[in-house]
Amino acid sequence: MQATEAHSQPEPATSFPRGRIRVVLLEGPHKSGGEVLRGSGFTVDRHAKSLEGDALREAVAEARVLGIRSKTRITREVLDAAPKLLAIGAFCIGTNQIDLPEATARGIPVFNAPFSNTRSVAELTISELVALHRRLVDRSAAAHAGRWEKSAAGSREIRGKTLGIVGYGHIGSQVSVLAEAMGMRVMYYDAVPKLPLGNAEPVRSLGELLERSDAVTLHVPSTAQTSGLIGRDELARMKQTAYLINNARGEVVDIDALAEALRAGRLGGAAVDVFPQEPRGAGEAFSSVLQGIPNVILTPHIGGSTEEAQENISLEVADKLARFIDQGTTTGAVNVPEVDLPDQSRATAGPRPHRILNFHRNEAGFLKALNTVVADAGANVAGQYLRTNESIGYVVIDVDPSDGEQLRGALGTLPGSIRTRLLW
Ligand code: NAI
Repeated sequence: MQATEAHSQPEPATSFPRGRIRVVLLEGPHKSGGEVLRGSGFTVDRHAKSLEGDALREAVAEARVLGIRSKTRITREVLDAAPKLLAIGAFCIGTNQIDLPEATARGIPVFNAPFSNTRSVAELTISELVALHRRLVDRSAAAHAGRWEKSAAGSREIRGKTLGIVGYGHIGSQVSVLAEAMGMRVMYYDAVPKLPLGNAEPVRSLGELLERSDAVTLHVPSTAQTSGLIGRDELARMKQTAYLINNARGEVVDIDALAEALRAGRLGGAAVDVFPQEPRGAGEAFSSVLQGIPNVILTPHIGGSTEEAQENISLEVADKLARFIDQGTTTGAVNVPEVDLPDQSRATAGPRPHRILNFHRNEAGFLKALNTVVADAGANVAGQYLRTNESIGYVVIDVDPSDGEQLRGALGTLPGSIRTRLLW
């Protein structure tokens, strides 16, 4: 299914008419993103499903902006079929589905939304803290099965209990605030010093956190250092009644050791959303050594899967795309240097400068050649910004309108130059 939604805005004074900026959105990202992009005056084509092969190549042929989610694979061949492409939006968290080196080599920034589902994961964690302390899922399962397990034995409030948070980043710090609001004492351990929120207490070692906590929740990324972070020895340091929550990544916990500890009654329970091996898609069969163990909540990697997160992801990615197309700002790009640019379109005094955007290979001598070109042109430069990463450089020059076109042409012919664009 495809719908074309043309812009209704008056054409702003850009060097390239906004209505001719064709945005192709695949896999039906939340409508909020399409609205942002249409509101910017772009023409938006929406496809409900992922495409591949000829259908994908055909869909991207005229695209200046391409939006996908996790299913569409953007390979070198797909990029070859999209010669006008300026930017890619991954309306999700991961960007593995995109050939990033190839996009980088072509000067195509890729934007995603890594933190739009933070709150969703934090809320799930809080709900699991209560559920584990009340043995909620077992009681519910029993009631469904016709058993009336009315008893206070083993049921506790979370108020006054100590929560240990491993990884005090975006999610861990949100959990901290919510847990304190529920009356918990919070301590956390992070690999780098982090400012405590509220009354949360930083602790010096993971071991100390494990020994003192009534519940431990993991919010670290998957890295070589966090692989197997919670193994047999770490589980043995936890209180016998403590709960473990893993809503981070499957590799962080030795799942066999966890199953063993739970079956032996050396832990009070666990909630696990992420697994070392996960089924590839919805509806597929799932098996785990944790199945069938009492007071163990198993969820299918849905920590960040809420309608609000989908809406936030769509808004965040669309906003980043619009800011890049309109201003050249690359903040939040995963593959090109990040440059946060002032909005010159709102400059009031004097003629609005032209902005030249140039991606180039990060090779010795480019900067010298660039400065020579600018000096030779005698251009009146109002601002210049340059950032590089190991493979690519991004330079932005605001110049007097009378110099814009000439300078753009000169920059575009420099050896190593990949792509040059003029705004306004
Ligand atoms: P973040 O990058 O904001 O925070 C991670 C924190 O972990 C940082 O403060 C970092 O310093 C710390 N850290 C890294 N290595 C560590 C180590 N060895 N020991 C202690 N602390 C360490 O990431 P955010 O947004 O809070 O997400 C955390 C993880 O949650 C993500 O990497 C992802 O794997 C997972 N996640 C799971 C979701 C789900 O659906 N279940 C959804 C979203 C994220």
